[in-house]
Amino acid sequence: MENQATLSTERLILRPFRLADAPEVRRLAGDREIASATLSIPHPYEEGMAENWIRSQKDSTGMVFAVTHKAQGDLFGAIGLNVNRDFDHAELGYWLGTAYWRQGYATEAARAMLEFGFHTLGLNRIHAHHFLRNPASGRVMQKIGMVREGHLRAHVKKWGRYEDIIAYGILKSDYEKGKPS
Ligand SMILES: CC(C)(COP(=O)(O)OP(=O)(O)OC[C@H]1O[C@@H](n2cnc3c(N)ncnc32)[C@H](O)[C@@H]1OP(=O)(O)O)[C@@H](O)C(=O)NCCC(=O)NCCS
Repeated sequence: MENQATLSTERLILRPFRLADAPEVRRLAGDREIASATLSIPHPYEEGMAENWIRSQKDSTGMVFAVTHKAQGDLFGAIGLNVNRDFDHAELGYWLGTAYWRQGYATEAARAMLEFGFHTLGLNRIHAHHFLRNPASGRVMQKIGMVREGHLRAHVKKWGRYEDIIAYGILKSDYEKGKPS
């Protein structure tokens, strides 16, 4: 998508990726732990993959943001919405480099995605899913007010193993009700 916004939160700047981020993307996303928790990140993360991924963002229906530290500018990871305009809904996805886990950064970035999705993009629903064996991601979804909508048994296959998926969603109306006034 063209003209992607830059968003600011208390500790983070969420901005479009640039090609210069590619080596750091490869270093962070190349961690097996991250690939293991997602369906889309390849492992090993070969030379050139980060550049291709960043280039592909311009023509995609997704809006991917680099999660960066506001004060120092370090790249922490990625977060994004894959938008379906036919239904005014989007799928939320995210990953952070392991050194940045458990400091509330994913939750902070995901909250900004809800605000952006519902108020800037005018979406009606945002959904997300995680592997049953990845409760940290589920915890992020809970903390931003998403509702657990289902448990899909052996729904996908990752590295040769069937995986259960937990599905979460939030409607714009839930979001407005849950916001502090
Ligand atoms: C999922 C991920 C983005 C979370 O990032 P993060 O910045 O550590 O998330 P936050 O700090 O905002 O919140 C994590 C929550 O999970 C909890 N948590 C962490 N590990 C956990 C575990 N093994 N079991 C249960 N809860 C766990 C944390 O305690 C925290 O909850 P709390 O604030 O109630 O204590 C990060 O772990 C990651 O990038 N994982 C690999 C990629 C991935 O899983 N992407 C999502 C695919 S669906």
